[in-house]
Amino acid sequence: MIDGTTNIIGVIGDPIEHSFSPIINNAAFEYLNLNYVYLPFHVLSENLGSAIGGANKLNIKGLNVTIPHKKNVLVTLNHLDPIAKEIGAVNTIKFENNEAIGYNTDGIGCLHALENKTSVTNKDILVVGAGGASRAICYQLAHSGINSLTVINRDLAKAEELTSNIKNTGILSDLNYDNMDNLILQAQQTDILINTTPLGMKGYPDQNPILHADEIPEDIIVNDIVYNPIETNLIKEAKEAGAKTVNGVKMLIYQAAEAIKIWTGKEAPKDIMENKLREILT
Ligand code: ATR
Repeated sequence: MIDGTTNIIGVIGDPIEHSFSPIINNAAFEYLNLNYVYLPFHVLSENLGSAIGGANKLNIKGLNVTIPHKKNVLVTLNHLDPIAKEIGAVNTIKFENNEAIGYNTDGIGCLHALENKTSVTNKDILVVGAGGASRAICYQLAHSGINSLTVINRDLAKAEELTSNIKNTGILSDLNYDNMDNLILQAQQTDILINTTPLGMKGYPDQNPILHADEIPEDIIVNDIVYNPIETNLIKEAKEAGAKTVNGVKMLIYQAAEAIKIWTGKEAPKDIMENKLREILT
């Protein structure tokens, strides 16, 4: 029940009405019996600074940040968690002592989703795509004891920039980039393949999987971060090939669970959150 002591958390974005975050976060708060409520806030880019300042003054406890504000929100914050600073994007804000602290839980969400199936230690990892989600995942993996990281992207310059930026930090030395034409070859030489492109996402014009079953080695793990539909064409092809799979729902749940830990200090009920999400996804 909402009362005078209810803590408010929210998500800001533009658009915001399709966000699943209110559903999974409120399910978690309810299960944990926490007096918190999670609300969607439609915030236009030109109002971002005043929205963050206003949220702080309204004693809102925290926010998730989504498209298109993840990068631009940085300048409105008082402090940044080191990995959010490296990634250059924030998806979670905690308001504390009248200050706004920025975090990025996307990469750790992906890492924990993978760790459900396998350890990433000493693994060769292939990431397809070099956009915002890829950046968060690549920095996190580079910190996590992997052997090598290869980024493949349609726009080769973006893959080169991302890998050279990570190399410059000195956290991982075996970093490579390649173009989409070499995807089949690169997939033969990896342990874990992660798709961060929107191919196969509901509503995206191109539903083709980036690889077909006969191009996927059976001894690799295929992680598609697309979560709607839960079983993308890439996940279907990987299963047909006999490979292990990690669907995008896992990353979505684990990144949300990390944010809940930042705001409340509590371990989130990931199974409850996932079941709630599965009720509304296909
Ligand atoms: P997100 O925040 O979800 O990562 P993004 O920053 O727009 O979204 O990044 C999308 C990634 O998917 C990019 O790497 C993009 O490739 P380009 O850098 O070449 O644009 C990739 N992508 C999008 N559509 C694609 C397609 N049809 N084929 C291959 N890659 C695609």
